[in-house]
Amino acid sequence: STTVRRGPDGALAVAGLDVRDIARQHGTPAYVVDEADLRGRARAFAEAFAAAFAPEAGMAGADVYYAGKAFLSVAVARWVHEEGLRVDTATGGELAVAIRAGVPGAAIGLHGNNKSDAEITAALEHGVGRIVVDSLPEIDQVAAVAARLGVVAPVMVRVTTGVHAGGHEFIATAHEDQKFGLSLTSGAAAKAVETILARPELDLIGLHSHIGSQILDLAGFEVAARAVLGLRADVAARSGHLMPEVDLGGGYGISYTGHDGVPPTPEQIATTLAGAVRRACTDLGTDVPRISVEPGRSIVGPSALTLYTVGTVKDVALDDGGRRTYVSVDGGMSDNIRPALYQAEYTAALASRASDAEAVTARVVGKHCESGDIVVHGVALPADVRAGDLLAVPATGAYGRSMASNYNMVPRPPVLAVRDGQARVLVRRETVEDLLALDEG
Ligand code: LLP
Repeated sequence: STTVRRGPDGALAVAGLDVRDIARQHGTPAYVVDEADLRGRARAFAEAFAAAFAPEAGMAGADVYYAGKAFLSVAVARWVHEEGLRVDTATGGELAVAIRAGVPGAAIGLHGNNKSDAEITAALEHGVGRIVVDSLPEIDQVAAVAARLGVVAPVMVRVTTGVHAGGHEFIATAHEDQKFGLSLTSGAAAKAVETILARPELDLIGLHSHIGSQILDLAGFEVAARAVLGLRADVAARSGHLMPEVDLGGGYGISYTGHDGVPPTPEQIATTLAGAVRRACTDLGTDVPRISVEPGRSIVGPSALTLYTVGTVKDVALDDGGRRTYVSVDGGMSDNIRPALYQAEYTAALASRASDAEAVTARVVGKHCESGDIVVHGVALPADVRAGDLLAVPATGAYGRSMASNYNMVPRPPVLAVRDGQARVLVRRETVEDLLALDEG
């Protein structure tokens, strides 16, 4: 992130705080969030969408929901809300965090392809602004809970458009053999709309489309937007109900290593989507809807790094005659499953000192009992990297802590926020005692 700098003696500082001080005060591994950076990204999204979708621009406004699945804590929910964002939750647990943060119900959305009655009840009792319906049976389920509570539930229909994107490309005619949403082409989405419109307990506020994650090319969003806006126009022609909102999902990619593509800026995203919505609605002859989006990774991902301490360093001879330096750190796949799960690429830097040593190609590995426990597949590190050094792995803010596990009974690291040279604990480090407390013997 932009506020990580090397100090005069070569050690890194995050938002003005030396990583050696962070490690001394809080131990490692630790996720270190730059609060100002995270807030700045949230604000940039809010401002870019407000500008591109302003009534003066011929649009009907926009809402940016922070996708809490990327990482949610009470402080982060509060920060993004303070910066003008709403909060998208995918489970009762994420909903509970948003509620504890004081985010008003109207500014919360609930997703999920298999919501429980308890989750739907909690959402409606808190007055959430939308429940995104993901299947036909869920329509009856939400209607039943709403009837029991005596409320009308605001719902959106999650539509699959056949556009799937991620990992730098998109496919416009992909098979819809996946669990999310209701298919546009098969007519399931239209059927859901019809069913909801016949239910007095439900208020159909819009359609929703999410096409994938870690997307750098915005073309897929334009194709998907046209498809859902087309369904919206069809429904209006058939039933007279012109839905007021369309959500175009999240999925904007980030750079993990600095040489893995150029991510779109919030301004580029907002103006591209606004243009696509305007053109599609003109062609369809409908008014433009209010638009919402749900970025997660692009807000929190670049704002945090993981700080590890180096343990063993091992030089291994390769079959081809080369050598590889294995640098073991005090965490691994339990705090970042993404390399093992998605072959995700990260980079690492010696963080606690400068070194003039020549570079070796190192593989940074964790402490877990599995050869696939890799943090960084290959990175140039100084040949004198040794036990006690601190390593920083950037861009771990999204889907790091949120997908962390206790594999090998390893306690999960804390999440620290740094601001103006001061660190504060957002989520404390787990202890072995915490883990033992769950074990009933
Ligand atoms: N909205 C919906 C409905 C979603 O399913 C997702 C992500 C988002 C928003 C936020 O997407 P983002 O802007 O963060 O890309 N664990 C994977 C990513 C899974 C994303 C699932 N859905 C990873 O670590 O890459």
